[in-house]
Amino acid sequence: ALVSLRQLLDYAAEHGFGIPAFNVSNMEQVQAIMQAADACDSPVIMQGSAGANRYAGEVFLRHLIMATVEQYPHIPVVMHRDHAPSPDICAQAIQSGFSSVMMDGSLLEDMKTPASFDYNVDVTRTVVKMAHACGVSVEGEIGCLGSLENKTGQAKNRLLTDPEEAVEFVEQTQVDALAVAIGTSHGAYKFSKPPTGEVLVISRLRELQQRLPNTHFVMHGSSSVPQDWLKVINEYGGDIPQTYGVPVDEIVEGIKYGVRKINIDTDLRMASTGAIRRYIADPANASELDSRKIYQSARDAMQALCQSRFEAFGSAGNA
Ligand code: G3H
Ligand code: 13P
Ligand code: ZN
Repeated sequence: ALVSLRQLLDYAAEHGFGIPAFNVSNMEQVQAIMQAADACDSPVIMQGSAGANRYAGEVFLRHLIMATVEQYPHIPVVMHRDHAPSPDICAQAIQSGFSSVMMDGSLLEDMKTPASFDYNVDVTRTVVKMAHACGVSVEGEIGCLGSLENKTGQAKNRLLTDPEEAVEFVEQTQVDALAVAIGTSHGAYKFSKPPTGEVLVISRLRELQQRLPNTHFVMHGSSSVPQDWLKVINEYGGDIPQTYGVPVDEIVEGIKYGVRKINIDTDLRMASTGAIRRYIADPANASELDSRKIYQSARDAMQALCQSRFEAFGSAGNA
């Protein structure tokens, strides 16, 4: 059944687990996630970005997610709009049936320029009013994502969510979930070496939770950048420089401090890219023309990855 983010995160908080929120833009990803969730009995959050809308088209994306509700009626599914740049875009998603939206007011509508606190409160509050009237949940963001490597002083401060600001933001907007900045960033290039507490500041979550014990936190940029998939990609013709993501153990630590939604996109891209490269390079498949076999290899790889995240974050067994 389609559920709101708030319903699911309240339940997760009650039971002390976190839920991966996977970005989706095609059928194989959607099916991989659902097959994994079905196998380990986990609730699901699937989210669509602007890039996903450009790739698949909003209509196809929405129907792909809604197909899972019909196919797996026993699994709670949240259909979430990731990083909406304005209240207008949130309104569109609400109208088309999303059960949750992220109003990303940490940046201006260009999605590049850091926004003022007042702007962020203003747009987020507007969306909360609108969304709550429709039974839809809202995620807001306070602080800007970005790598802390080689940053000090003021520059570093801007990239870490300020606890006092977070308290004020939650009070003034009444968001259902709060994305926080603790040193992660989007994409595969998060850290140039395995992250320490200096650049992946899990301790900030503890400070945030002390002041906001009832707020559900969201960790963006939470791909772990699996080293085994990196190796597979490079073994079969890829050329990806050495890079590190957010270790699963650190996410599990974050879940103790109120992290409930864990955004993952890059890891599924890596698993499918690696699986496809490996499948095509295998001489045993040289005469294969049924391209479904290629997609199948990607779907299997993504399913395994999803299942290991459901299990690690504790959502398995909680559908
Ligand atoms: O929010 C970031 C996601 O990784 C979305 O990326 O816009 O390329 O789909 P995308
Ligand atoms: P990754 O690039 O680490 O997978 O993060 C995705 C994300 O935060 C989407 O909002
Ligand atoms: Zn994000």
